[in-house]
Formats: sequence, structure tokens, C-alpha cells
Amino acid sequence: MKELIHKAETLIEALPYIREFYGKTIVVKYGGSIGGKELHGFARDLVLMKYVGMHPVVVHGGGPQIGSLLERLGIKSQFVAGLRVTDSETMEIVEMVLVGKVNQEIIAAINSLGGKAVGASGQEGNIIVARKLDISKFAHDNNVDIPEGMDLGMVGEVETINPHLIKVLEDAGFIPVIAPIGFDEMGRSYNINADHVAGKVAGALKGEKLILLTDVPGILDEEKNLISSLTEGSARDLIRKGIISSGMIPKVMCAIEALHEGVNKVHIVDGRVEHALILEIFTDAGVGTEILL
Ligand SMILES: Nc1ncnc2c1ncn2[C@@H]1O[C@H](COP(=O)(O)OP(=O)(O)OP(=O)(O)O)[C@@H](O)[C@H]1O
Ligand SMILES: [Mg+2]
Repeated sequence: MKELIHKAETLIEALPYIREFYGKTIVVKYGGSIGGKELHGFARDLVLMKYVGMHPVVVHGGGPQIGSLLERLGIKSQFVAGLRVTDSETMEIVEMVLVGKVNQEIIAAINSLGGKAVGASGQEGNIIVARKLDISKFAHDNNVDIPEGMDLGMVGEVETINPHLIKVLEDAGFIPVIAPIGFDEMGRSYNINADHVAGKVAGALKGEKLILLTDVPGILDEEKNLISSLTEGSARDLIRKGIISSGMIPKVMCAIEALHEGVNKVHIVDGRVEHALILEIFTDAGVGTEILL
């Protein structure tokens, strides 16, 4: 009996959080680096969120999955400042892996647990209107060096997000799952960093929260200790010092931008930890790193 009462208490403890986030949009970025093993738990957390009245929207990455297919096909990739140089042959693979594989796997996992997921790339409903990445601006904004005249091919950035389709889906009880491929007015497709897409989607939806799930406990300092909250100023400082580097740079930058665009809270959380999403939403435990302005 004691055990049952404890179970009931645990449910009751979730009440303030359910009340706070009921009907609110929570954008979750699922890092490609997390791996398939954790997908089932992630999908279960999403389905629970949806059934208690929250509106999770998923944006996913897929860098490692793209890398492994390119390798199997013998196509070499070059990285510049953490960005994959994307020629048209590589772009074809990027789209196939993200839209045809990773996106479908996430949908299957959600649906197998009783959720209703709908997949989309940036093309469906024109969700992601993109343009070629402005490299010199990117280098300047992110404090990184990119050789003059470097062409990264089909690496893009978000021009605008059209949130209409996402809203229709979330109101109809679906969980939208978005692959980070954007399109320009000529129908050309672009490979876009998924953190950047997630930040822009959260901004366009005026999301309550943006949660970036990745393969580290959060942002780590020089001694590899977790930083539990980080302001814009110190984040820029850590990037300048090279302590925040590679894939963590777009996460921090998109977090700051999302906050400026009206998203209430942004967290970088370890997606490999069981129930990471639930812990973040239903407790004050403060897992991972919170980014503050
Ligand atoms: N200060 C830092 N603290 C924590 N991780 C850092 C830091 N600086 C750089 N990193 C790197 O950032 C990585 C996370 O970004 P990465 O792009 O690799 O994964 P992801 O964004 O979750 O996946 P994907 O890009 O496929 O969507 C970490 O694995 C770590 O190597
Ligand atoms: Mg990344």
C-alpha cells in the first residue's frame, strides 16, 4: 500500500508542471549523436508529454548517420568550422538519410508507443525557407576562422520559418517531427544545422521551452565540469577561449537567438540519460545547462 501511495504522490508532484506547460509548445532537438538505443525512451517521454496536454515539436539532427552512409559509399567529406562541405552528391545523401531514414525512425518509435507523429522536411508546408549560408557572417558571428573564398556548397541557413503547418498538426493532436532540410524559392535544398533550425522553429512558434538533447551532460568548463547556467556574455567568452567549440557553438548561438526571439527557457541536456526530457520538464532538478540572456 505504501508503495502505491508513493506512486500516487509522484504523479501529484507532476501537477504544477503539467499546469504550467499545458497547451504550451516545447521544441525538442534530438541530436544525431545520441544514437538509436535511447530513441525508445525519448519517444515514450514525448508521448507522455502530448497526452498530458503539452505540444512537443521535434527537430532532429543526423550527422553521424550521414557520415556513416557517406563512408559506406566511399564519398569523402571535408569539415570547415564544424560544417560539412556539401556538394550536390553529398546533398543527395544528406536528404536521403535525414528525411528517408532518421525522420522515419523517430516517427515509427513515437507511433509504436501510441503517439501520432507526422514527419516533415522544410518542404512540407514551406516550413523552412532557406538560403545559402553567408560564410563571412557565420565566421564573424561564431568567432571562427573560415578561409577567404571558401565555398561550402549546399550548406544553408534559415531565412524564415512558416509555422502554420506545425500549428495545424499540434492542434490536431499530432507530434510534428522535422528534418533540418530547407528550400529556397527555386526549390533548391539546403543542409542546415539542426540546432539552428530548432532555435528558429522555437522562435517562430513562440515556444515555452527549447530543449537541446545531445551526447554530453551539458556545457562543460575547462576542467570538464558541468556549467548549470550560462549567460550570453560568458558563453561568448567561452567560445572565444575555445572552451566551447565544434558542435556546441551552434547550440549556444541558437539558444541565445531563441531567447531573444521570445522563447522563455532554453536547456542543453544529456539525451543519453534515461528520462532526460521528463526530468527536465517535470522537476526542478536542473539537469544540464540552462542558457540565460
Ligand atoms: N564546452 C563544451 N561542452 C560540452 N560539449 C562540447 C563543448 N565544446 C564542444 N563540445 C562538443 O559538442 C558536441 C555536441 O555537438 P554535436 O554537433 O556533436 O552533437 P549534436 O548536435 O547533439 O548532434 P547532431 O549535430 O548530429 O544533431 C559534444 O559531443 C562535444 O564534443
Ligand atoms: Mg550538432
